[in-house]
Amino acid sequence: MATIGVFDSGVGGLSVLQHIRQILPHARLIYVADSAHVPYGDKSAHYIEQRAVALTRFLVKQGADAIVIACNTATAAAAATLRREFSIPVIGMEPAVKPAVAATKSGVVGVLATIGTLESARFAALLERYAGDVGIVTQGCPGLVEQVETGDLHGIRTRELIERYTAPLLSRGADTLILGCTHYPFLAPLIREVAGERITLIDTGEAVARHLQRRLLAELPERTSGDASAQFFTTGDETQATRIMSVLWGNAVEVRPLPFT
Ligand code: DGL
Repeated sequence: MATIGVFDSGVGGLSVLQHIRQILPHARLIYVADSAHVPYGDKSAHYIEQRAVALTRFLVKQGADAIVIACNTATAAAAATLRREFSIPVIGMEPAVKPAVAATKSGVVGVLATIGTLESARFAALLERYAGDVGIVTQGCPGLVEQVETGDLHGIRTRELIERYTAPLLSRGADTLILGCTHYPFLAPLIREVAGERITLIDTGEAVARHLQRRLLAELPERTSGDASAQFFTTGDETQATRIMSVLWGNAVEVRPLPFT
């Protein structure tokens, strides 16, 4: 049975974990929410790298056979370092520019992501490679991650932020929005309400889970079945994490503290 270690700056990576659970129903899953350090979006790459190494070390100690960085910001800042420092497969994620470029009919794609992701060299390379003739309009979304962290998926403040961040993209003609941060899929119903039903929302979670499945089949073929289990950890407040992660995961979960913060 493969053990998959998954981490994010907070609860957002659960949107990826849900796809992993669906595609690998027999995997043992260990999830860490680094909520004491959320948001990553306004931190330096060096800071995020240090967090990513510490969390990965913890996950490897718990028996992880592979790591999923369920965070676009941490992938941009730390994927290369993790791949250098650890010998197990490290799966990262990035805003889904390629499928969005294929999906747009208006020829304009909007990208909602953290400042850290949008300013990264990795994101610039992604646009260079896949944007082609399509217009890409980017929008950093400070504050949105925090709304998801507190479990406010439908409130007035969250709606105001979404209106503010989607307006410039829609006024430039975007018909397709990339959810370039793993917290945002939890806001998809509200984004759709604000941006209109005709908008196409693109999320990377399922593609990441499929990529993980391929890597496991290729590199750990003997470990493809077993008894499913999921364990949850946080560096933040356990009571709050238990409440919010249970709602987002869709089942009551027990969230334990990490032995360090
Ligand atoms: N969920 C993260 C991402 O995919 C990071 C959000 C943050 O902490 O700023 O980018």
